[in-house]
Amino acid sequence: MENIPQHIGFIMDGNGRWAKKRAMPRNFGHNQGAAVFKKTINWCRELGVKCATFYAFSTENWRRPSEEIKGIMDLLRRYLKDIRASADENIRIIILGDIEPFDKDIQDELIDIMQTSKNNTGFIVGIALNYGGRAEICNAARLLAVKCSQGEIIPDDITEELIGEYLYTSEMPPLDLVIRPSGEQRLSNFLIWQAAYAEFVFMDVLWPDFTKKDLEYAIREYAARNRRFGGI
Ligand code: FPP
Repeated sequence: MENIPQHIGFIMDGNGRWAKKRAMPRNFGHNQGAAVFKKTINWCRELGVKCATFYAFSTENWRRPSEEIKGIMDLLRRYLKDIRASADENIRIIILGDIEPFDKDIQDELIDIMQTSKNNTGFIVGIALNYGGRAEICNAARLLAVKCSQGEIIPDDITEELIGEYLYTSEMPPLDLVIRPSGEQRLSNFLIWQAAYAEFVFMDVLWPDFTKKDLEYAIREYAARNRRFGGI
């Protein structure tokens, strides 16, 4: 395939509905969703994508029942081992979001994985955890305000590029494509700054049923579009 997106964002939606259709608890769907997350990383690599970012837990997801949150955390704990194994395959892991509210063991593991995989160049996996696009931009604004108040920069120094350097994606290629399965057609606070010129592919498949064929379809759809970035 030609014109492969360098960076794809995945909104892993539909786990709950997938479980409900099988009269199973929601965490059964998340379990299956996590397995698809792992497979998707390999499919992206096989297809020549350079970076994939997954929306695993949003700042709004804390509103869910505690049992479901616990299920997702347990899943994360289990998959951290797998993620660590990926780090050994020249994959760099970047966590997007404020991980401070997570249990200490998860935080320590995440920080360690990010540090040990820092120089890996084969592929980048972004995992958005307690992530919100608005919170990310607020955070950048706050950090830049501190720099201004300390006299390190002046307000006129604040450009789109400078803000970009204060986002979690600063060391990732630009976001080209966002894929959202499950039939919903919204961004839900995911990479809102980065998605300014991204293409969107919305699909009816529920995330736990997402296959390599679905990914290929989305990439073909992307490749067929004419991105003008505001030009003609
Ligand atoms: C959205 O589906 C999914 C989530 C809020 C959680 C996604 C988490 C995982 C796939 C597992 C953990 C991830 C890793 C990296 C191990 P939903 O529950 O909103 O589905 P629904 O809209 O059908 O209810």
